[in-house]
Amino acid sequence: MRALRYMILLYASMLAVPLLFLMLAIAEIAGNAALAGILEILAAVGLMVYGVVGFAEAFGGRNAHANWLGSIAGKENGRAGKPADKGVVAVRLEIGRFVSEKRALEKDTYKVSANRFTTVLDALLSVKEEKDNTLAVRYSCRMGICGSCGMVINGKPSLACETCLLDVAHGGRVEVEPMQAHPLLKDLVTDFDDFFEKHRSVDPWLYRKNAAEQNKAASVYAQTGKERDEYLPFSYCIMCGLCMDACPVVNSNPKFVGPQALSQEYRYHKDSRDQMGAKRLGLIDSLDGVWGCEYAGACSEVCPKGVDPAAAIQALKFEMFGKAMGDEDEGK
Ligand code: FES
Repeated sequence: MRALRYMILLYASMLAVPLLFLMLAIAEIAGNAALAGILEILAAVGLMVYGVVGFAEAFGGRNAHANWLGSIAGKENGRAGKPADKGVVAVRLEIGRFVSEKRALEKDTYKVSANRFTTVLDALLSVKEEKDNTLAVRYSCRMGICGSCGMVINGKPSLACETCLLDVAHGGRVEVEPMQAHPLLKDLVTDFDDFFEKHRSVDPWLYRKNAAEQNKAASVYAQTGKERDEYLPFSYCIMCGLCMDACPVVNSNPKFVGPQALSQEYRYHKDSRDQMGAKRLGLIDSLDGVWGCEYAGACSEVCPKGVDPAAAIQALKFEMFGKAMGDEDEGK
């Protein structure tokens, strides 16, 4: 839009100068000296504009005329050469901080500046750097890969580094709290020991019947694309724990192994290179395992990587049920 306005201004002035000269010639032929004088002055101003634009083009690069015209027009922000900042707005960031001495959340409110690219993590780090360096936040990659910055933003488990502050600001306000399904440590930081324990409980690695192969592959275990597609969507898990926090069963039964571990169980079960077979299903065949899931589907809703733990769990149930029925039929 800005470039279009500059182009219109530039080409309008380019057309105006010859037009002024034409009118000047007519005024002189008609003998109107006063009008000819005014037109002469206007044409001279037009030529000066050309001269300055040409000079700027020659020494200021390809878009110099646009910058220069922008500076005299003062359209964007009145400060030539500075980035537009009218998109910066103030947001009220309300942080529910866990205070271990009181075993309770305490709310602290900070005013932060945000543009459309500012993430919740950026805002929290600006609070930590400029307003309160005691604020505890866990993060690492800042790009939705490491899974460290999970927290509850406006009531929804989310990654702070993948959530833009202005996208979730309602009435200029954003509420941030630590995840509740994991033991709280300090402020927004939670303890993942139990989470990793549950993950480990489903043997999340490729199992080979030959013990020697477990640590040293005997060869390349080739797979077709179709075989890989069986488990690929479930291998995108970054272990951020958001699905666990969203799951109502995890929140009411801490022993429930949860959607993260179950989806990873499915991922390895469907991998053609894994040889654990039915024994793998046995790891989760309990009420704290796959049968604990009530299919709320909240886990899949919040996954930042598009993993669908709810679908994996139902597929596991279906397979286990079918196997149990088959075993029963064989026993008859
Ligand atoms: Fe790594 Fe957010 S900091 S996922």
